[in-house]
Amino acid sequence: MSTDGVTAGDHETYSLTGVTATAKPLVVGVLRETFRREHRVALVPASIAALKKAKLQVVVQAGAGTSAGFVDTAYLAVGAEVLAHREEVCSRADILLQVRTAGANADAAEADIAALRPGQAVISLCDPLSRPEFMRRVAERGALAFSLELLPRITRAQSMDVLSSQASIAGYKAVLLAAERSVKMFPMMMTAAGTITAARVFVIGAGVAGLQAIATARRLGAVVKATDVRSVAKDDVQSLGAKFIDMGLGDAAGGGGYAKGMDADFYQRQQAALSPVIADSDIVITTAAVPGRKAPRLVSAEMVRSMSPGSLVIDLAAEQGGNCELTRPWETVVENCVSIIGCVNLSASVPFHASQMFSRNATTFLLSLINDGHWAINREDEIVLGTLVTIDGQVVHPKVHELLASDAGER
Ligand code: NAI
Repeated sequence: MSTDGVTAGDHETYSLTGVTATAKPLVVGVLRETFRREHRVALVPASIAALKKAKLQVVVQAGAGTSAGFVDTAYLAVGAEVLAHREEVCSRADILLQVRTAGANADAAEADIAALRPGQAVISLCDPLSRPEFMRRVAERGALAFSLELLPRITRAQSMDVLSSQASIAGYKAVLLAAERSVKMFPMMMTAAGTITAARVFVIGAGVAGLQAIATARRLGAVVKATDVRSVAKDDVQSLGAKFIDMGLGDAAGGGGYAKGMDADFYQRQQAALSPVIADSDIVITTAAVPGRKAPRLVSAEMVRSMSPGSLVIDLAAEQGGNCELTRPWETVVENCVSIIGCVNLSASVPFHASQMFSRNATTFLLSLINDGHWAINREDEIVLGTLVTIDGQVVHPKVHELLASDAGER
């Protein structure tokens, strides 16, 4: 195991396994997010004390937190520097903390990538498994990229897990969106004008987002059913007071709490099992995902047409291609008086708390790589191995490397 410091361009020196003796403490830069309708910010003022305690400096692009409710003066008050121009932040920062960059911001990240310099680090959601080509470009700039989607699901990493914190918010917001758009109320009501029956909500995919959707729908008084291909999800669903629908397909659990991708025959049998439950639901919330793959198609157009007029499908997998055949990301499609809402980045619509949680996760992650104001990256640590995608001009993450190699083979 080498403990040598590695020269990263002419700006900073970092150590892969130990602490270097460079004079200048590292500067953390926070940029205004550029993804469509992104209102979150990667670092909130409350996290800055912990960074300063670790002897890091913080520079923030003016207005970076405004749409989340964190104004520039709040950053100044805790000792961050606020810089007027994005370019200044990019050139001053040794570490850029972002919510979405590279493949996770495919339409707008190009300029940021072009501004990266050797040895500079980016910590962000990067979507490297769906869009690995962006990681190649980051590697070409000589920058280090830590992709937060790739955090291993181990106990030590739970406090850094942005996917879980943001999925939980998305599950909550999906139900509020459904309640607002639905032609029906959620709770049962016995009134002088007659008895109103509770809304029937069906949640497909009982991971973090799905479980929060179940809990929220139950709190609003709906009758909730849910399903998942991981059989362990049954206990979680039932503990929240929802009915688990067993599709009789066996267990499709993969590693690390994730589901496995299955073949077309499996999904056809699953559709057949889901059909009667969907036809009987007022609101279907879909959250089914398999990492690095397109979302499984579970709700066909025919199944949508079987729902009562005024019903809703809220598709949280829209960005990964959608769980419903009719889903269009960012849009609401109406089919036979049933609305299909293609939700993208739903957590950004609750930007204050989403930023607060993201910031806590990202700060904990960053501090695990720092000692006394300098890099202390242990390349053999499980969290580093899981998340470090580029360093020293190379794509070093095996899965991303493999995806790039197979892409090159296809061309
Ligand atoms: P996810 O976002 O990858 O997927 C959402 C859900 O869709 C999962 O529950 C998955 O099993 C389900 N799914 C996939 N294909 C499906 C299909 N064809 N039909 C129905 N459902 C399908 O997963 P998420 O939300 O991140 O969490 C999955 C599990 O991992 C949960 O039990 C969660 O508690 C656990 N977890 C553990 C962590 C840790 O130990 N540090 C951190 C985060 C989550």
